[in-house]
Amino acid sequence: MARVFTSFTLLALVFSMVMATDTSPLQDFCVADTSDHVFVNGFTCKNPSLVEANDFYFGGLHMKGNTSNPVGSRVTPVFVEQLPGLNTLGIAMARVDYEPWGLNPPHLHPRATEVLTVVKGTLEVGFVTSNPENRFISKVLHEGDVFVFPMKLVHYQRNIGNTNAFAISTLSNQNPGIVTIANVVFGSKPKISTDILVKTFQTSSDIISNLQSKF
Ligand SMILES: *[C@@H]1O[C@H](CO)[C@@H](O)[C@H](O)[C@H]1NC(C)=O
Repeated sequence: MARVFTSFTLLALVFSMVMATDTSPLQDFCVADTSDHVFVNGFTCKNPSLVEANDFYFGGLHMKGNTSNPVGSRVTPVFVEQLPGLNTLGIAMARVDYEPWGLNPPHLHPRATEVLTVVKGTLEVGFVTSNPENRFISKVLHEGDVFVFPMKLVHYQRNIGNTNAFAISTLSNQNPGIVTIANVVFGSKPKISTDILVKTFQTSSDIISNLQSKF
């Protein structure tokens, strides 16, 4: 009986491990047909005989993103929407530019782990673990340094130098998603009731209204 239980437990464990990662694609590629309005998990496949080299190509990542905004950073995504050939392949990337002391504010990716490589400049990066520890893990990175932000954890990067900086990120999903904490909490449409945020943050409604007006 114990043996049956053990094999069953092992099988369940193996099965859950398989389910926890992207499945292997069922074809060489499935270039996204972004004009199709059928909702599936990802995009439907473009007819393989019509696929061409440009479906697997994205140009322009040598160009700096526009960082003229309140946080002083810009993410240039190369996700499935920008590069249709990524469809079903479980990977994507982005360029992140930072002006001096620019911040890529606290956010998380609901579907991806991120590996960030500093190409130019010096970044302070950090993430926070889940409840109840909420441990803050942070490090200063220099050119050529690589750092991993585990899937679904809140993280940020800040340029701590007096020159522009940029990094290249790789993400473990064709469509990683970005949940920016300040935007989801204070900038939802419609708004979350001010009294809910007053109680959540244990502060006054003036402060909450002021924050809501900024997002
Ligand atoms: C950068 O963004 C700012 C603010 O949106 C805009 O005013 C400016 O024209 C942009 N610069 C370039 C070069 O696109």
